[in-house]
Amino acid sequence: AKAALGRRNLVLVGLMGAGKSAIGRIVAQQLGLPFIDTDTEIERVSRMTIPELFAAYGEEEFRALETRVIKRLMRSGPRVVSTGGGAFINDKTRKQIERSGGLSVWLNADLEVLWERVNKRDNRPLLKTENPKQTLKDLMDKRYPIYALADITVQSRDERKEVIAGEVLAAVI
Ligand code: S3P
Repeated sequence: AKAALGRRNLVLVGLMGAGKSAIGRIVAQQLGLPFIDTDTEIERVSRMTIPELFAAYGEEEFRALETRVIKRLMRSGPRVVSTGGGAFINDKTRKQIERSGGLSVWLNADLEVLWERVNKRDNRPLLKTENPKQTLKDLMDKRYPIYALADITVQSRDERKEVIAGEVLAAVI
């Protein structure tokens, strides 16, 4: 049987465009818990946007900041926490989530669904490449075995976000 959420943090993980923030916000509302997005929190504490952080300090520094922010968030709660796509891939960050007892939910989505959603915005420094769709595909290949370590997997289909949020809820309560 799947572990129930109880008073733990619910941590949404998955690739860019999987719907972590949009779905997380709805799930939080339905659980009556506060919602927090780690990228938004990083932008708040650094007073810079994610693209500005990558440009000024590079990915490695961004990851270090992300680890610190998530470590702090995991010490309190319960909350619904949506993470940036690379957070759970970082061993240090993933272990913090695990050790704190956070219940991790992977929003799994296929390439077309992800692409459709990320394509509309220009806020993903990792996709500033010659062929961003191929980059997204490469990230899927590399990261999916690691996201699969999450406690629960929910398919983020091409459906209304309320429907997917309902499936997340059903899986955790
Ligand atoms: C990243 C995903 C982004 C953001 C940063 C790096 C990644 O978050 O943290 O651009 O490594 O996949 P979203 O998943 O919310 O787009």
